[in-house]
Formats: sequence, structure tokens, C-alpha cells
Amino acid sequence: MGDYRQAYERSMRDPEGFWREAAAAVDWIRKPGRVLDDSAAPLYRWFPDGVLNTCHNALDRHVDGGLGEQAALIHDSPVTGVLRSYTYRELRDEVAIFAGALRNQGVRRGDRVVIYMAMVPEAVVAMLACARIGAVHSVVFGGFGARELAARIDDAKPAVIVASSCGIEPTRVVPYQPMLDAALSLATHRPSKRIIQQRPQHPFDLGPIDVSWDDALSNTEPADCVAVNATDPLYLLYTSGTTGKPKGVVRDNGGHAVALRYSMEAVFAAGPGDVFWAASDVGWVVGHSYIVYAPLLTGATTVLYEGKPVGTPDAGAFWRVVAQHGVTVMFTAPTAIRAVKREDPESKLLDGYDLSTLKRLFLAGERLDPETYSWAGAKLGVPVIDNWWQTETGWPIAASPRGLEELPTRAGSPSFPVPGFRVRVVDGAGDDVPPGDDGAIVLGLPLPPGCLPTLWGDDDRYVASYLSAFPGNYLTGDGGRFDADGYLYVMGRTDDVINVAGHRLSTGAMEEVLASHPAVAECAVFGVHDPLKGQVPRGLVVLKAGAGADPADLVALVREQIGAVAALRRIDIVAGLPKTRSGKILRGTMRGIADGRDEPAPSTIEDPAVLDALRPLLRGNRE
Ligand code: COA
Ligand code: AMP
Repeated sequence: MGDYRQAYERSMRDPEGFWREAAAAVDWIRKPGRVLDDSAAPLYRWFPDGVLNTCHNALDRHVDGGLGEQAALIHDSPVTGVLRSYTYRELRDEVAIFAGALRNQGVRRGDRVVIYMAMVPEAVVAMLACARIGAVHSVVFGGFGARELAARIDDAKPAVIVASSCGIEPTRVVPYQPMLDAALSLATHRPSKRIIQQRPQHPFDLGPIDVSWDDALSNTEPADCVAVNATDPLYLLYTSGTTGKPKGVVRDNGGHAVALRYSMEAVFAAGPGDVFWAASDVGWVVGHSYIVYAPLLTGATTVLYEGKPVGTPDAGAFWRVVAQHGVTVMFTAPTAIRAVKREDPESKLLDGYDLSTLKRLFLAGERLDPETYSWAGAKLGVPVIDNWWQTETGWPIAASPRGLEELPTRAGSPSFPVPGFRVRVVDGAGDDVPPGDDGAIVLGLPLPPGCLPTLWGDDDRYVASYLSAFPGNYLTGDGGRFDADGYLYVMGRTDDVINVAGHRLSTGAMEEVLASHPAVAECAVFGVHDPLKGQVPRGLVVLKAGAGADPADLVALVREQIGAVAALRRIDIVAGLPKTRSGKILRGTMRGIADGRDEPAPSTIEDPAVLDALRPLLRGNRE
């Protein structure tokens, strides 16, 4: 039996022994006596009596252990021309002082802090400062607009909001103040303060509850790490569900630190001295886990990159970053590689850079299509590792775990279940289907450490959304199959969540915005294939009798409310939507036709004539 199989089987046979051993890699203030609390199953808690501080493990521990002068974070921002490196000591000191500033603004242990920031070091500092004083951060991606921000503010009820004054996209500066102000006028919750990181590209006009980052730091004493329970929340990260109300994924302190340390060794084969670059955004789970926490918990150097993969300003931006900082492990989304490939199909830009430090490329966030997998492998000459996971799990569910064994990878497959995850493919009755057959992908309970223990303030919604469809299992929302050799293939969501350029979005949220327009009677938003972004949303709208609306205004409404990242560019006004006899709108059917598959099940459609009318329109959308 190979090392991977051995580790995997041990994790299934003796999960408590397995995770007790892994927990030894973390510094505890009080070592956990118990490993798993299953007294409230199907809700589980890892390391219930352990006490630690995540910021200590990410920073102070390394300074105390002799890594103080090693680079902890490199901020590379081609869009502003800034390049700055922070040693572990410098980052620890900046975090400690900002932690003191948060305290001065009234933030206490357990309070929530919403962070709405660009890809700047201050975002990382704010996250770790929260961890230091036991506050709970909730980072909101800068591409989200007022409505999404308001929903998160109302659910998390932050004591304080920390924001950048603007973000910078290649073609424009994005002022955050209008979005923040609009969100607060929509929300019912009121934070007591906003701490604003002023950026010269577009300063914020400070109001009565605002304090600038610099002023917040003056006359401030650094704060020490406080002791928190392993089961206390470290952060909340909202993610799209099928409805317009985002789900507040809770991450605990203890299980998270243990799981991320384990993942760096077992999956990414990375340790102290590695330069780890996750080209994502701190607003997404990949950014939380693999820009901020995992590299720092491990004593590696992390790269925080503010820019796009191509054209900001140099077309070979990705390869420049790898060469300049000696990146050893890179992680991004397939869509980013597709963007690079589209710009430079012959990879001529690679020639100008020495990429000899690069050992592996990890890709996740959406399905890795075989063409992108093969192109990246051939051009870079390093293993390309597809890994499948989600905001809820916080770390890879399936991958080729390079730190355990160098198993061959296959195009289109994120390889095998990672130790700790009992991955099953089941039919509607919850029975395992044979290899080669498609089904729903579920995870046997308990989920390993690091995964969500619940949704913020809503155990019932957690149970209803994830744990009820197949009792004893967690519903991933993805469908797929195993092949005869045990390789997993994840083919796509089985719900109304779509994945646009590696960004997880809710079609339901876009529909709610469209339905709020006074002229709209009903609407449907569904994802259609896109060669660069994997999927893009497409909207169909039926207007109320006698009402008029311009599709461009509807597009603008979604952009304003959900954010530019929704990338909904095309809405058509139609006479009717295909529905089942019970009135359910057939999004899957419309998506299938738009993607070139004619898959209606006419017997379930109330009025096939509606579908016939839509067919040319949907087909005409194909590029
Ligand atoms: N703040 C403000 N606006 C943002 C934003 C942010 N943080 N991120 C994206 N947007 C805007 C973009 O400017 C764009 O606006 P536009 O409609 O005016 O052009 C819109 O949201 C859509 O963005 P996106 O879908 O990202 O398209 P793009 O053309 O700007 O870039 C890629 C395409 C593929 C280059 C880019 O999506 C990418 O690098 N993706 C990597 C994905 C990733 O990191 N995923 C995380 C999981 S690993
Ligand atoms: P997010 O929560 O934003 O990380 O999005 C998670 C979703 O992205 C998953 O449920 C999948 O649908 C999709 N996804 C992520 N990684 C992969 C992958 N490697 N292969 C296929 N789908 C993926």
C-alpha cells in the first residue's frame, strides 16, 4: 500500500488518532484533551477543550523560533507600482499595533469586524489583528456591490468596518465609499466606527464615524495575543447559496490551524522557506486559506499580488512575479491560466523569465478543463495539480497529495479524496453508485477539522441546506463520478450556484434583484458556457403587461446591487419562460440549449411553444 493510501485509510479508520497527531504541529496554550465532540451530531466540534491563538501560530511563533528576519509577505502591486516585503518581525509588529487600534475603537473578543479592502497588506494585517484579539473577521470581496455588502453587514453585525478607500482595476479606480455608504443605508445594523485605509488613487471623504488607518494607529499600544477556545470562530466568510441570502460559513480557530498546517505538508508539499503564491483575492476562501493563513502558519513566504494575470501592465505579469520572487509553489484558478493562454498561446512570454524555482502549479475554484490542464503542464514543465474544494471546507477535499506521494494525475480529475474526507458518489436514494456512473457527491460525517462547524447564528439552515438530503452526509452541491481507478471527476453544481471566472455566484440573488424592478413579472438567470470564464450568467425577463424596461438598465441594476463581479452582460426580454406543470422554471433546460445540448423533457413542460420560441434566441447566444 502506498503512502497516500496508508494515510487515507488511517484517517478513515482512526480519525481521532490521525488528527491528534496532526495537532502536534500547532502551538497550543492548552493542548486539547479531547479530539472530537460528537455530542450534538450531526454538528461536530474538533478539539473542544483546546486553547490557542491563531495569530500567535501565524506570526509570533516564527519570530520566537528564529524566522523573524525571513520574508513573511511580499506585496507586489503592478497596478500601483508598489513592491514591498515584510519580514515576520515587521508583520507581527504591524499586526500587534493594529490590534491595539481595533481595541481602542471598542472591538472586543467575539466582536465581528467586516473587512472590505483591496489586495493590500493592510487587509492581511486587519485579518490577523482580529485573530490576535479574538475578534471575528468577515472579509467581503471588493467586487461585490451595495446589496451584497449590506446582507453581510446585517448578518454579521460588525462592531467596526475596516475598508480601503478604493480598489484598482486595470482600466479604472473603484471608489469604495459609494458602495459602503449605500450598503449602510440599506442595512439595519450600524457599526460604531469605520477605519479607512486611505489610498492616494481615490481618498475617502471621512464622516463622523470614520477614522483613518493612520489616525487609528497614533498613540496606540500594541496588543498581545489572547487565548481563545479552539472552537471559537476565527472568521465568517459569506458564500453564495441558491437564494439571495448569502451563507455565513463559520471557521473555528483550532481545527482550522491544524487542517491548514496539515494541508500545506500533505497536499502542497510546502514548508518554511517556500515562496507560496496564491494568485487569488483575500475576499475568497482561496485567499483566506492560501494567501494568508496556511503559508504563515507554516513559516513560508506568501505573495500578495494586486493585479490581473495579464496586461497589468506587462502581458507576462504571472511569469514576472514567479521569476522575481522565486515562487516555488503557485496556486490560481483555471480561468486565470486561460486568460494567459488567450493572450500568449505560444507562451512566448515565458522565454523572458527564469522559472526554475517553480515546483508545482495548483489549480482550483472551478472545473479544470483538460485543454487548460495540458497547456499549463506542457508550457511550464511542472506538475499541474487540480484540487477540488469549496468555501465551506476551507481546504482541498480531493487532490493529488504531493507531500504524501507523487501519484500520476489525469486530465479533468482532481485525483483522489484527501485524508479526512470520506467522499461518496450517491444516487437519489443515497446509495453509492458504481464507478463510471454519475451522482451527487457527498461527504460522510464528520467532516475533518477546518471545515465549517455551522452557519453563523443558524444551525437550522446549516442542517437544512447541507445535512438533510442524505442523513449522515454533507451535501457538496456538486455532481460527478469516480472512475474504475478511484479518480474523482467533479462535473459541476447540481444547484443554482454558478462559477464565473472562479467566482462563486448565486443566480437566485441576481433573480431577486431583477424581480425587484417594477416592470419585471418574472425572470430566470442561468449560467452558460464561456470559453474564458467557464460560465457567465444569462438573464431572461418577462415584463408585466403594458410595462416597458430597457435590458441595459436591468444589467446596470444587477451590476450596482450585486457588483461588477456578477458579470451579467446579457438580458433578453421574452414573452414567457419554460416551466414544468408545477410551475418550476426550467433553468437546466435553457442552459442546455444555450450550451448546444437540446435536452428538454417535453412531457414536463407546461407549454412547449414557449420553449420553441426561446430556442433560436438561446442558440444565437453561442460564440
Ligand atoms: N473590485 C472591483 N471590481 C472588480 C473586482 C474587484 N476586486 N474584481 C473584479 N471586478 C470587476 C472587473 O473589473 C470586471 O468589471 P468590468 O465589467 O467593468 O470589466 C468585472 O468585475 C468582472 O470581473 P472578472 O469576471 O474577474 O473579469 P475580468 O475580465 O476583469 O478578468 C480574469 C478575468 C480571468 C482575468 C479574472 O477573473 C481572474 O484573474 N480570475 C482569477 C479568479 C480567481 O482569482 N478566483 C479565486 C478562486 S482561486
Ligand atoms: P467556492 O466556494 O467559491 O470555492 O466554490 C466552490 C465550488 O467551485 C465547488 O462547489 C465546485 O462547484 C467548484 N470547484 C472548485 N474547485 C473545483 C475543481 N477543482 N473542479 C471542479 N469544480 C470545482
